[in-house]
Amino acid sequence: MPAYQVFNRTTGDSFTCNGDQSVLKAMELVGKKCVPVGCRGGGCGFCKIRVVEGDFECGKMSKVHVPPEALAQGEVLACRIYPQADLTIECVPQPVDAIVEQATRAKQTTQQDR
Ligand code: FES
Repeated sequence: MPAYQVFNRTTGDSFTCNGDQSVLKAMELVGKKCVPVGCRGGGCGFCKIRVVEGDFECGKMSKVHVPPEALAQGEVLACRIYPQADLTIECVPQPVDAIVEQATRAKQTTQQDR
């Protein structure tokens, strides 16, 4: 089974994922998990990520957590996608550190504008 590179745009990390391995499993194996893990079966929605670029196969996912309009924008559950090419992903929701950093940057920008 071919192996693909997955680049996480949120964290700046890359890791290898086999085509028959879920992106969540590959993240966990290299210790680069950026989303919470729950059911591992596409039902809880905890492991939501966004695929920005690249092809993948998708297993069954809860439509409550990934409605068709979200799927059309690349939102998927990491436990249910299998890469078929190199992928670029983002974490959804983003880790707390990224949210704090964005808020700090926005505050600094606002203060500089005064
Ligand atoms: S861990 Fe529950 S949907 Fe992925």
